Amino acid sequence: MKKITEIRKDFSILSTSVYGKPLVYLDNAATTQKPSCVIEAMNEVYTEYNANVHRGVHFLSDKASEAYENAREKIRSFLNASQKEEIIFTPGTTGSINLVAYSFGERFVKKGDEIIISTLEHHSNIVPWQMLCDRKGATLKVIPVDDNCRLVFEEYTRMLSKKTRLVAVTQVSNATGVVLPVKEIIEEAHRYNIPVLVDGAQGVQHGMNDVMETDCDFYAFSGHKIYGPAGIGVLYGKREILESMPPFQGGGDMIEKVTFEKTTYNALPFKFEAGTTNFPGAIGLARAIDYLRETGPEYIESLEKDLLGYTWSALSEIPGLKMAGGSVPGVPVFSFNLEGVHHYDAGMVLDKLGIAVRTGNHCAQPLIERLGLDGTIRASLCFYNTREEVDTLIEGINRVRDMFF
Ligand code: ALA
Repeated sequence: MKKITEIRKDFSILSTSVYGKPLVYLDNAATTQKPSCVIEAMNEVYTEYNANVHRGVHFLSDKASEAYENAREKIRSFLNASQKEEIIFTPGTTGSINLVAYSFGERFVKKGDEIIISTLEHHSNIVPWQMLCDRKGATLKVIPVDDNCRLVFEEYTRMLSKKTRLVAVTQVSNATGVVLPVKEIIEEAHRYNIPVLVDGAQGVQHGMNDVMETDCDFYAFSGHKIYGPAGIGVLYGKREILESMPPFQGGGDMIEKVTFEKTTYNALPFKFEAGTTNFPGAIGLARAIDYLRETGPEYIESLEKDLLGYTWSALSEIPGLKMAGGSVPGVPVFSFNLEGVHHYDAGMVLDKLGIAVRTGNHCAQPLIERLGLDGTIRASLCFYNTREEVDTLIEGINRVRDMFF
């Protein structure tokens, strides 16, 4: 097992400084840093075999196509999906959810139908469904949460009905770190044969990546949240449902034959990958997944568990600090406010101390409002963070308190 000092060397940005202070990067829920092997893998594409995939007969195109399809296979194995055809490359979680909202919605949702989401969703798992409901005359139903940010499960079971076409829920709240009981949500929906989309953007990097285990029908995630490049993401879908859905976008590679009278479409997964895809991104993402395998998922989990406990205890001791949602989060994402201090001011002071956190509503406005807040300070950690960095955060927060009291 690699020592944490060695792990941190893999991420060169972690040893840089901001405002002359060592960077303490605690904004991993927004995006993660990239190990050098990911940057090198993408550099290799551009310097050694850049060519359009699935297009040319020449050496470079063959090589790029092979690497792209190997990346797809790697993602399949990582998600424990049964077939490569079930893995579609998209620009990110948002792209994946919009694909389903448009394509599944076009085929299966009609006036009077219902889509269920939860209060804990990021805007990207709210707005595409609202747009679909507007287009179709369907209704969006929202599972409520209690004051501790936990889903009111009985309400959810009451909402499921013959009108429900799809349930779409996040694995982990990006704003509070609360983990949802996704497996139970799916089991319940499947009793009525209702498919479930899982937004894995905040769960995939914390080991919640097994689609067989949850039996979800769709799973969406972004490369940049799991140490891969930005602009690449994945939609997993069960083959039978994907086969029954129409294409999302038209263009090159998604077709079988085009005439001016009629076009027939390519097979899965290409049916949903119109135009030149982000193949360097897919190759970079596959390398990130290799890196996690090499580092050891169980080791990563133990590092994050340690950070979670340590940070929770340290934050709990700060007078006037109030956690959004109240209880211990399921992943090391901590959302809080300091009595008498605006979250934005706190974020600005922490920034000047070299500490990167996110402040505001975290693209989850309905949840923040439900909690009676107008924003929070969010510190999101991952395995390459250290207890010393947590200590620096605590010192920073105490400094903020001293300044504003
Ligand atoms: N969805 C990202 C976050 O939670 C941007 O910060």
